[in-house]
Amino acid sequence: MNEIQKITVLGTGVMGPDISLGFAMAGYEVTGVDIEQAILDRAAQKITLNCKQMVEEGMLREEEGLNVRSRITLTLDWEGAVAGADYITEAVPEEMGTKKEVFRRCDELCSEGVVIASNTSSMSITEISSTMKYPQRAVSTHWTIPAHLSPMVEVICGEKTSEATAALVFTLLKKAGKFPVPCKDSPGFIHNYIQFAMVKAAMDLLEHEIASPDDIDTVVKNGFGLRLSSVGPIKFIDLCGLDTILNIQKYMYKMTKNPIYRPSEIIEKNVHRGNLGAKTGRGFYEYTGDEAEKLRILTNRTIIRIKQELKEF
Ligand SMILES: NC(=O)c1ccc[n+]([C@@H]2O[C@H](COP(=O)([O-])OP(=O)(O)OC[C@H]3O[C@@H](n4cnc5c(N)ncnc54)[C@H](O)[C@@H]3O)[C@@H](O)[C@H]2O)c1
Repeated sequence: MNEIQKITVLGTGVMGPDISLGFAMAGYEVTGVDIEQAILDRAAQKITLNCKQMVEEGMLREEEGLNVRSRITLTLDWEGAVAGADYITEAVPEEMGTKKEVFRRCDELCSEGVVIASNTSSMSITEISSTMKYPQRAVSTHWTIPAHLSPMVEVICGEKTSEATAALVFTLLKKAGKFPVPCKDSPGFIHNYIQFAMVKAAMDLLEHEIASPDDIDTVVKNGFGLRLSSVGPIKFIDLCGLDTILNIQKYMYKMTKNPIYRPSEIIEKNVHRGNLGAKTGRGFYEYTGDEAEKLRILTNRTIIRIKQELKEF
């Protein structure tokens, strides 16, 4: 595999500029490519503004901000940018045909040692790479918005992705200050399997005129949104109590008949065994000693700090 110095990002719409910035912040030379000059111009402006904000917020010194910005070049020269890359990631629209064609063309244009990554939010990398002669170098790296700041990137290997490709991607993302999380090649992976359940629920509330867009956003941002940075959904279930969660599921399913609220077998089994979460010392995690207490302190501290910082609650 090639040593990585030059990275090409295909597509500079919403995600491409921030992914480019993420790599440039780690010292890589990045070329962003799109199919229209007006899109490149908007991308250039967004990258400059994001660099400026990181300087204003004290995350980068002024000189660092300028250096980061100078490492990103934007171009319409698709073939030149692909042929000259040591690593490629695409951020083109979420359409299977478009992604397959991009992977087929990249496969033709670059040498065998170049890894080609997809930023797909939901689609199978096995299918995306099915048009390639060398599918062992295809992988998905799902960055989340805003990509230059969000630390987590999901890494999805297809049926033919080689171990060398996976290892290279984990190393590269760690160098870029991210923490890569391996996920199975399954629709929506972890992030969007969960996030899109919320999207659907929010749209149901709107469609049934149960709440306004602003009230829905306010409840999520100021409710579970605040604690999600310290407690994920599984630990939340443990802290809330599996018996309580089960009762809520039972009632909501009875009233709505919506399958998303059908009581979960895995919760029923645990409740049956007496594993009710932190309050009994065991749920999906084990709570020995003062772990539950430490988690309470961490959750509170996170919320206190976010509230102090944002002052808009
Ligand atoms: N928008 C998000 O919040 C988000 C978050 C995570 C992942 N993603 C994923 O990232 C990918 C890109 O999403 P987006 O929101 O940036 O889309 P977008 O539509 O904003 O941008 C896609 C860009 O790709 C360009 N493009 C189309 N064909 C191209 C080609 N052959 N070569 C180069 N550029 C081409 C388009 O002109 C456009 O500017 C999708 O797979 C999406 O699911 C999006």
